[in-house]
Amino acid sequence: MILLTGGAGYIGLHTAAVLIAAGHDVVLFDNFSNSKPLGVQRLEAIVGRPVPCVQGDVRSRQDMDGLFDQHTISAVIHFAGLKAVGESATQPLHYYDNNVAGTLVLLEAMMRAEVRRIVFSSSACVYGEPDSSPIPETAALRPANTYGRTKLMIEDILRDLHGAAPDWSIALLRYFNPVGAHPGGLIGEDPNGIPNNLMPFVTQVAVGRLAELQVFGGDYPTPDGSGVRDYIHVMDLAEGHQASLDWALRDPQQVLTVNLGTGCGYSVLDLVRAFEQASGQAIPYRIVARRAGDVPAYWGDASLARQRLGWTARRTLEDMCRDAWNWQRKNPQGFA
Ligand code: NAD
Ligand code: WQD
Repeated sequence: MILLTGGAGYIGLHTAAVLIAAGHDVVLFDNFSNSKPLGVQRLEAIVGRPVPCVQGDVRSRQDMDGLFDQHTISAVIHFAGLKAVGESATQPLHYYDNNVAGTLVLLEAMMRAEVRRIVFSSSACVYGEPDSSPIPETAALRPANTYGRTKLMIEDILRDLHGAAPDWSIALLRYFNPVGAHPGGLIGEDPNGIPNNLMPFVTQVAVGRLAELQVFGGDYPTPDGSGVRDYIHVMDLAEGHQASLDWALRDPQQVLTVNLGTGCGYSVLDLVRAFEQASGQAIPYRIVARRAGDVPAYWGDASLARQRLGWTARRTLEDMCRDAWNWQRKNPQGFA
């Protein structure tokens, strides 16, 4: 059985759908601080069978030991964490506690249960402002915010752990910008409050929940002046987890650090145009000042994941926009 901490969240649900379809048994574990039980019910509708889900907190030794006692776990995919960059600046202790301390409690429980395979949700955020793009995994690591520092600290903890316990198999996955949804429109991204991220903001404008998009910066040194990112379809990302899990289950007893991105950069205005095409909805927008802390442009080098995992992102920006719109159109209030 595969344990997915944070499994009721956006990427966890999509990954669970892909893993179950591939024949894996999974157990989800989540405290529902940023997700809803309805998401798990939707996952069950997709896969056509019950999916075990345990409510608990990764920071609780009691919860974690109970989980490993009750289930025979062969590997863990560790999604549980807080991810809002702005909030991490105002609540740093909460972010270090939840992300870093929570991971320590999980790893100690894994030690006691003799589970030595883990796939960890890191982020392209560990690179901060890169010297150039595409960014290879060997680029300098200098995260520019508290959230990114929690991810780098966890990477360091896992590298140190492997130094002391070389029989562990550890995959550190640095995601770029996950967007889109399962093609059936039953699950998707459902942020609390006004979205911080571009795609959910765009879909909420399209569905009439928000009036207009603010494009943060029109004077970047990019082809159209708006910021450039490596958007990756969440189903491609989910398949990247499947490939990483299969790697870990082969017991390579190594640390593998890979980017999960497409290797392509698109601007904010590229995404808006692609979304309008895919949805047939006009997205009113206004170009405003740059957002503090934003990097002008970056995208990942996706070649190592292809070499090491045999995985490559297949879906286009149009697919991402179509599926994000399909989810939002069918669920205008998300999982509410
Ligand atoms: P999400 O918030 O939808 O999912 C995270 C899940 O973890 C939520 O369901 C939340 O309730 C749960 N959780 C949080 N703290 C917990 C705790 N202490 N105990 C138990 N459960 C807890 O986010 P997501 O987009 O699915 O991201 C999953 C992981 O991927 C996170 O670690 C995030 O930092 C990382 N990541 C996300 C992105 C992105 O843009 N979405 C990019 C890079 C990395
Ligand atoms: C994308 C582009 C914005 C909103 C963040 C985290 C990163 C990762 C993914 C977790 C930028 C522009 C956005 C809006 C806009 N998460 N934008 N108007 O900042 O690239 O990455 O999420 O690990 O670590 O930092 O994503 O979606 O916020 O922004 O113009 O209302 O869209 O300026 O160019 P970002 P984003």
